[in-house]
Amino acid sequence: MLSSQGDSAKRKSLHGHWSSRMAFVLAVTGSAVGLGNIWKFPYIAGQNGGGAFVLVYLVCVIVIGMPVMMSEILIGRRGRRNPIATMELLGKEEGSSANWRWVGIMGVFAGILILSYYSVIAGWTLAYVVKSVSGVFAGASAAAVGTEFDNFVGDWRLIGLSHTIFMALTIFVVARGVERGLEQAVRFMVPALLVLMLVLLGYSINSGYFGEGVAFMFTPDFTKLTWNSVLAALGQAFFTLSIGMGAVMAYGAYLPEETSITGASVAVVGADTAIAILAGLAIFPLVFANNLDPADGPGLVFFTLPLAFGQMAGGVFFSTVFFVLLAFAAWTSAIGLMEPAVAWIVERFNRTRAQAAVMTGLLIWFLGFGSVLSFNVLAEFKFLAGTIFDNVDYLTSNIFLPLGGLLIVVFAGWVMCRNSTSDELGSSGTWYRAWRFLARFVAPIGILFVLASAIL
Ligand code: PHE
Repeated sequence: MLSSQGDSAKRKSLHGHWSSRMAFVLAVTGSAVGLGNIWKFPYIAGQNGGGAFVLVYLVCVIVIGMPVMMSEILIGRRGRRNPIATMELLGKEEGSSANWRWVGIMGVFAGILILSYYSVIAGWTLAYVVKSVSGVFAGASAAAVGTEFDNFVGDWRLIGLSHTIFMALTIFVVARGVERGLEQAVRFMVPALLVLMLVLLGYSINSGYFGEGVAFMFTPDFTKLTWNSVLAALGQAFFTLSIGMGAVMAYGAYLPEETSITGASVAVVGADTAIAILAGLAIFPLVFANNLDPADGPGLVFFTLPLAFGQMAGGVFFSTVFFVLLAFAAWTSAIGLMEPAVAWIVERFNRTRAQAAVMTGLLIWFLGFGSVLSFNVLAEFKFLAGTIFDNVDYLTSNIFLPLGGLLIVVFAGWVMCRNSTSDELGSSGTWYRAWRFLARFVAPIGILFVLASAIL
């Protein structure tokens, strides 16, 4: 295979570059830290029995998530185009085939589908900012908080409206370009979110049920683990790290040449995992303290947290700040979900970012009504994995992302020649050898095995 260091070193992204290594780490962290950590992780862990699921999730993050993340960044930086064009270009350059572009196409498609329901849940967080400020949760009972939630999601017009507002916000930022605004938001949001999670954790520790929460999360009971739970853990690892669909690849395309990909990946994976674990530690004690069911599903944080805040001194303030931060976290993730499609439209059809953002955004907004209606009008309309929302979530997290990740890691580990990857990752070294071993063997075999065991 021919190495083409010479050509790739000269490539520049059409969309400009990140101003610094820190900017890139912040952007990828912003995309990784989102509803996946605070809304999804606790309820998925709850539905899959806790401890054993959490353990499998952590293993997936380290042995599969890390090498996939590094592969995506290195491919992105080498190609410096949108994920479809990058995969096509590198496929040819590395002596394989232009058909690798299908990895990019699947990613664009997955991003659109994920955002269609992600935006609906993000809309809930916006509405919960308003509810928090108005004081509905102050001193409210578990039953009252539950009824508030049920009435809210039961009205498709309300959640359709909040979905619409969230999509408008996302289109707005994506249209303006990634550097302005986004960097600032993340710089402040991630640390603030950490602080608030710690405040909540303090409250949870004092709830008297901290031990139960910790036991639920960290005592693995493998009898509860089915292949489907293992697949859910793998899917969650991909979802929470934003990998397998080209978001990180698109961000990698704007990464300056000298930045260490390994260092950036460790920072992002570390921050993301820390926030998910903190969220679990804050939420499960509250679930047990209030006699709620950890397997309650997508409403879990919307019951437990307002309830906890409602009983705290300064609860109205904390609750408002918390939902504002969660909305921000969702916002910076939504941008990553749209970026592959938008970068593709800009490059392929010569459109402005604004036009591309509006076109993609409108499509996603429309598709989102499938999920809006899944909580009310079409709540009883179930097939395969459940409602439309359940199916879109299952298909994207558990099938598209792992499949995308598999192809990405096979491409980086087997198709790209050693010179190309070591050139991007920094030559030999222990890290490089560890990455290559994980990318060639552990990750692909692991993903294939889990997918096959759960589906066949
Ligand atoms: N990682 C984000 C979250 O945890 C979701 C996401 C997935 C964002 C894929 C971008 C790409 O909320």
